[in-house]
Amino acid sequence: MSASRNDLDLLAFARHSEDDEPICNPLNSRPFAELLEEAKLARRGFLRGGLGAAVALMLSPGATALAQGRPARGQGSQLLGFTAIPTSEADTVVVPEGYRVQVILPWGEPITGRHPVFDALGATNSAEDQAQQMGMNHDGMHFFPALDEDGQPRSDEGLLVMNHEYVDWVFLHPEGPVLTAPRPREQVQKEMAAHGVAVVEIRRDSLGQWSAMRSPRNRRITAMTPMRIAGPAAGHPLLQTHYSPDGTWARGTMNNCAHGVTPWGTYLACEENWANYFCNREAHPPREHSRYGVHSTPGRLGWYSIPGWHTVTAEEDADEQCRRFDATPSGETAHDDYRNEPNTYGWIVEIDPHDPDSVPVKRTALGRFAHEGMVFQPAAPGKRLVGYSGDDARFEYIYKYVSREVYDPETAGGHLLDDGTLYVARFDAGGRGRWIALEHGRNGLTRTAGFRDQAEILVNARAAADRVGATPMDRPEWGAVHPQTGEVYFTLTNNTSRDSSGTDAANPRGPNRFGHIIRWREDIAVPGEGEEALGFSWDIFVFAGDHGSGSVQGRPLDDSNIFAAPDGLWIDPDGRLWIQTDISNDAMNQGRHAVFGNNQMLCADPDTGEIRRFLTGPVGQEITGVVATPDQTTLFVNVQHPGETTTGPQFVRGEWTSHWPGGAPTRPRSATLAISRIDGGKVGT
Ligand code: FEO
Ligand code: CA
Ligand code: CA
Ligand code: CA
Repeated sequence: MSASRNDLDLLAFARHSEDDEPICNPLNSRPFAELLEEAKLARRGFLRGGLGAAVALMLSPGATALAQGRPARGQGSQLLGFTAIPTSEADTVVVPEGYRVQVILPWGEPITGRHPVFDALGATNSAEDQAQQMGMNHDGMHFFPALDEDGQPRSDEGLLVMNHEYVDWVFLHPEGPVLTAPRPREQVQKEMAAHGVAVVEIRRDSLGQWSAMRSPRNRRITAMTPMRIAGPAAGHPLLQTHYSPDGTWARGTMNNCAHGVTPWGTYLACEENWANYFCNREAHPPREHSRYGVHSTPGRLGWYSIPGWHTVTAEEDADEQCRRFDATPSGETAHDDYRNEPNTYGWIVEIDPHDPDSVPVKRTALGRFAHEGMVFQPAAPGKRLVGYSGDDARFEYIYKYVSREVYDPETAGGHLLDDGTLYVARFDAGGRGRWIALEHGRNGLTRTAGFRDQAEILVNARAAADRVGATPMDRPEWGAVHPQTGEVYFTLTNNTSRDSSGTDAANPRGPNRFGHIIRWREDIAVPGEGEEALGFSWDIFVFAGDHGSGSVQGRPLDDSNIFAAPDGLWIDPDGRLWIQTDISNDAMNQGRHAVFGNNQMLCADPDTGEIRRFLTGPVGQEITGVVATPDQTTLFVNVQHPGETTTGPQFVRGEWTSHWPGGAPTRPRSATLAISRIDGGKVGT
C-alpha cells in the first residue's frame, strides 16, 4: 500500500460516518419501564384513533387484532416459521436452518458495455470499466419481475435495480487513494462512476441459481449522468447553473440510500448525504446550503478544481465535472458558476428501469432534503396518490406527499409526482399527530416569512418545516406501508445528540443510542378528490436495544432478537416486517454495542410484536435493501461496505477486517444475497 502519513490522517475523513457521533452523552436517567408505560398510553390513542379509519382498511385479521388491541403475550406468531439465529461476529453470512444463500452481483461485476472483467487483486480496472460494472455500496433495491405469456409476473426472471450509495475509496483504489492535490482525474472519475444506480436483468436456472444476463436493458447511472428537472422548482433561478442556465437539467445522482417504487412501475432513487460532497467558501452561505450542511471546507471526496485543495487541475476538468462541487460564487451571475449546483441535489429521481435510454427525472414537488427513501400507500383508482419520505439527519422530519390529481391506472405516470401537496409531520403527545401543508400562502409560509413562491419552499423544505413547527425526529430512515392495513412504519435509527431534557413523546429517549420504530395510521389513508387528510394516530412499535428493551405489546427483547440502529424496513405481501440494522463503524462490535454483533436482519409480526433474528452479516458491513420475488421464494438482500471498520494503519498493513465474499487476500465487496428455502417454500414462513 502506498498511502503516505498525510493520507493516513485523511482515512478517517474518508470513512463513512453517516452523521454518527462518538457516544459521549450521559445515560438517560429515565427508567425504561417508565418509557414503556408512556408509550403504552400513546398506543391506546393509536388504537382509539384507528377505530373509525380502520373500518375501511380492515382487510386482514392483522388489522382486526390491532384495532381490538388483542393482547399478544403468549401467542405464537402465525407469520414467522423459522428458528431465530444467534448474533455473530464471523466474517460470513448466517441464515436459519433450512435456508441457503447465493452471493450475486458483487461490486465490480461487469454488467454492460464491454463487460470489463473485475480485477479482484490488482488495480487494472479504469474509471471507464467501473462505469460498466456494478457500483459500490449496494443499498435500496427492487425486483421488477418479467411477465409471462399470460401477462403474469414471473419469479425466475426480472430486473434487479439498486442504489450504490457511496464509495469505500481505500478498496476502490487498491494502490491507495491519492488525497494530496491535485487528485488524479482518473481516481475522481472512478469514484463518480462507482456511485449511482444499477439496472441488471437476472434469471434463475432450473437448479435455483441466479445469474446476471448480458441484457440490452442493463444500465449504469452515475454521478455524471444527465437528468431532467421537473415540477414546481424546475427552471427557478435557484436551479440555474452554468451547465443549465434555464435550470431544467442537472448531472448525476448520489448517495442514494433507500428507494421507492411507483404504482406505475418506475424506480425512485433518493438523494441522502449529498451535502458532504460540496463546499461553499462564502462567509455567509445561503440557507439552501447552510441548512443542509454544505461545508466551507473540502467535502468528503474532494472533487474540486480549486488550487491547493484535494483537486484535479482546472485544465483536466474541461467538462467542469469537478468544478461544479465548489459552490462558491466566482462569476457575475449563477449562469457563470456553480453556486446553485447543491440545489440540484437532495431530490427524488424517477428512473424507468424498462427503458435503458430513458432520461432520469428529478421530481421537485417531493421536496429537497436528505431523502432516505419513499413509500406509497396502495394506489386506488379515483383516489389520490399518497407517499412518505424521511429526512435522515438528527432532528429532521418525516414528510408526506399527496398528488393533486387522482390515480387512474390507465394514465398514471410521473406527472402525479409533479403536482401535489407536501406535508410535514407533527407528533403530539397522547398518540395523535397532524400533517402540516408546506404550501405557499398557508401555515405562515408567505413572502414576508421569506418564501417568495412554492419553489423556494420546496428547495428549502427543511426551513419551511422548521417554520410550521414539525417534530424533529431521531434520524428517519426507511419506511414501509402495510399492504393490508395501510399502517405506516418508520425506523428512527438513533440520535445520541438528543439529551434527556430534549425528548418528546415520539422521541422519548435522550440520548437515543439504539433507535426505535414508530408507526401511524391515517384518519383517511387515501383521500379522494377535494378531501384533505390531516390527522393520524401513532404509537411506538418497538424500542431497539439490549435485553429488556422491547415493544409496546409487552415483549422484552432477548437473545433471539436484540438489535440496534434499525435502518432498512420492508413489509412483504403477507405482512411480515423485515428490519435491517446499520450500527455505525465507530460503535459496531464495541462497548455497549458489542452485544449486538455484526449488523443483522430480523423479521417481525406486526400483530403480535414478535421479532426473530433471521440473518447476520460479515464483518464491518450493514445489511440493507430487501425485496422478494412475487412468489416470495427468493429474498434479495444487500450487504453494504464489508470491511469498512478497517482502520488507516490496518489498511496500510493490508490487514483488512473483512475479505467477504471472496476470502483472503481479495478486497471486500458489497454484494447481493439471493436467499431461499432448501425446500423451495416461501421465505419467512
Ligand atoms: Fe444512507 Fe440513512 O442511511
Ligand atoms: Ca439508510
Ligand atoms: Ca452504514
Ligand atoms: Ca445505512
